[in-house]
Amino acid sequence: MSEFQPPRFHTGRPYDHSRLTKLPFAANDDLVALVKEVFEQSKDCAPFAASNNPYALMPDTLAFLEALLTRTLPELIVEFGSGQSTQLFSSWAARNGKRLISVEHDRDWINKVDQDLPAPLRSVVTLVHAPLHLKRHGLREFFTYDALNQLVLEIRRADFFLLDGPHVSGREDVLYFVLCRCHVGAIVVIDDLRSYSIGEMLDTLPRQLAQCFAITPIDENSHGLAVLRCVSTPSPAPLPTISLRSVLRSYWRCFLDYRNYGTGC
Ligand SMILES: C[S@@+](CC[C@H](N)C(=O)[O-])C[C@H]1O[C@@H](n2cnc3c(N)ncnc32)[C@H](O)[C@@H]1O
Repeated sequence: MSEFQPPRFHTGRPYDHSRLTKLPFAANDDLVALVKEVFEQSKDCAPFAASNNPYALMPDTLAFLEALLTRTLPELIVEFGSGQSTQLFSSWAARNGKRLISVEHDRDWINKVDQDLPAPLRSVVTLVHAPLHLKRHGLREFFTYDALNQLVLEIRRADFFLLDGPHVSGREDVLYFVLCRCHVGAIVVIDDLRSYSIGEMLDTLPRQLAQCFAITPIDENSHGLAVLRCVSTPSPAPLPTISLRSVLRSYWRCFLDYRNYGTGC
């Protein structure tokens, strides 16, 4: 894992989230109001220190997540991509008698996250080391967690998700895995909405899946955020083959992520 390589999410083509209005997401004024209020509250939180890790969540996102936890009080949080967020979630969970499952592909990174957690925080976290493997959906290829199938029960139970991993080539597979299995009421926060690949994986959701979720994008956030809430039992849907370009791009993304970061074993 290279310390100084800029994350590809933050260097690629920008995404215009107005494209999300083309999909039949469920209208949900409550979610819009909740996100707006939480976003305003988060500006008053004690500021988080900015990390010098370019991959880490930004302080405004951490403040937003903390305020959103306080409003939604999830019993079980599942995050994909460990780091600063693991510190935040475990600290909140320890104070409130809740649990966190943190899924991370990179062995060195998860060991470091583990070492950095003080014992009281460590006791409320299940750290899952899930290296990456290639997985095909239709004609497209994804470089995604190998252990997702072993987490089905936890994903069905969880009330709050953060999708912040793995790298570009695997995140769409994780998105579908979560959206197709989560329960009504679950909140799914997706980081990096400013990135084209993240926006596109949302605005190409099959209509039958999109209509089971309400969505509120936050553009004012440093990397862009999307907050989804499951409003009706999801209708499982396959990942779409959008175009020949999307097929070629999926292989190219896997190649780049494998070359830059490896499997994480
Ligand atoms: C967007 S980061 C996850 C950040 C995490 N949620 C946080 O709040 O810090 C996605 C992945 O980048 C990897 N990563 C984290 N720090 C890194 C570094 N300094 N260099 C390369 N990869 C890194 C980890 O494998 C992580 O799962």
